[in-house]
Amino acid sequence: MNRVTINLHHLRHNLKLINGWMKDHGASYTVVSKVLCGHSDTLCALGMMGVTSIGDSRLMNLPVVKGAFPGAEIWYLRPPHLSAIQSVVSLSDVSLNSEIEVIEALSQEAQRQGKVHKIIIMIELGDLREGILPGTLIKFYERVFHMPNVDVLGIGANLGCLAGAVPNIDQLTQLGLYRELLELKFHHKIPVISAGSSVVLPMLLMGTVPKVINHFRIGEALFLGTDLIHGGTLRGLHDDVVVVEAEIAEIKEKGLVPMGETTEMSPFPSVVNEDLTPGQRGYRALITIGQLDTDVSGLIPFNSEYQIAGASSDITVVNLGASNDGMAVGDTIKFRVSYSALLRLMNNKYSEQVIVPDLEQFTEAITGETAGESAPAAPARSRCAPGAAGGAGGETAT
Ligand SMILES: Cc1ncc(COP(=O)(O)O)c(C=O)c1O
Repeated sequence: MNRVTINLHHLRHNLKLINGWMKDHGASYTVVSKVLCGHSDTLCALGMMGVTSIGDSRLMNLPVVKGAFPGAEIWYLRPPHLSAIQSVVSLSDVSLNSEIEVIEALSQEAQRQGKVHKIIIMIELGDLREGILPGTLIKFYERVFHMPNVDVLGIGANLGCLAGAVPNIDQLTQLGLYRELLELKFHHKIPVISAGSSVVLPMLLMGTVPKVINHFRIGEALFLGTDLIHGGTLRGLHDDVVVVEAEIAEIKEKGLVPMGETTEMSPFPSVVNEDLTPGQRGYRALITIGQLDTDVSGLIPFNSEYQIAGASSDITVVNLGASNDGMAVGDTIKFRVSYSALLRLMNNKYSEQVIVPDLEQFTEAITGETAGESAPAAPARSRCAPGAAGGAGGETAT
């Protein structure tokens, strides 16, 4: 059986640290929960940690998110599509937009629902995913500005998510100038510049993010600690919030290099290890996780001596080395995970997803820890918070 374990204390540590970075910069941020695929226990725990702004990209997850974060601001992160407008308006407070037709539909629907829907106008800054072209911003804003039931909360950009374009100071400064231009022309405040996801955090730590950037949307770094620019882990963050275990179903000493001719007949990419020589032998473990469950290339064994030799839909083969390392059938091998591996595991019905400690113990722990501290105002009681420890840590995200 495969198990994904999410360590809530390590998650809380990461959240606290990121909160501190945001505070130092004078920014707020939205926790991006999409990698959890609606995992209610982890969402509830985040709710208890005091997160007050949460974003997801699947409408199906938003009711769970709403339950776990009562009173929180809910962001819908995928560019809304026309057939989803009713749900976008009823389930989220803010969405990221780049199409006039869609924003018109949002305004009409918001009017029907008696609401004002907030939007971020996304501007294309080089990653070539969503966003209007900068040259069209004034006309675009002018049209949106006159729509009765949408409120332009801010402008924003998505950097590094598709093409891997590394963000730079010029792009971020540009956003500040665009806001200034709009505010001067339309005599209307645009409070938020939402320009960063985890990829901007290394710049934030180096102190090179312009102060005008006052909102971030953070997912990967919170859950995995990843430094997306330099590799490795961001200063002080835990890289083991998530641990994946898969069970050994077979373990034997075998040849490590296939004999005879090989060809690309497997539906999945083969792993070629140039360091191995024909005839070389070693211990190979077959484990219960495969390409169906996850992105196997994103599994990183905790034991750095272990190497993934390849995987099919249901099985991964791990080279353990010259000995069996004391491992036997029934034992598990532990991995850290990449974002893509985690995303698929959280969405995988063949894997178990658990939190440690459980919600009750976690509530007790954080309540005890902060007893006597002057914690900020507690958020509204989470539907899933045992004993309602809301705000115990005071780690408010916005
Ligand atoms: C629009 C948007 N903003 C922010 C994020 C968060 O990115 P990251 O997980 O790299 O922090 C994502 C990605 O999931 C996204 O799609």
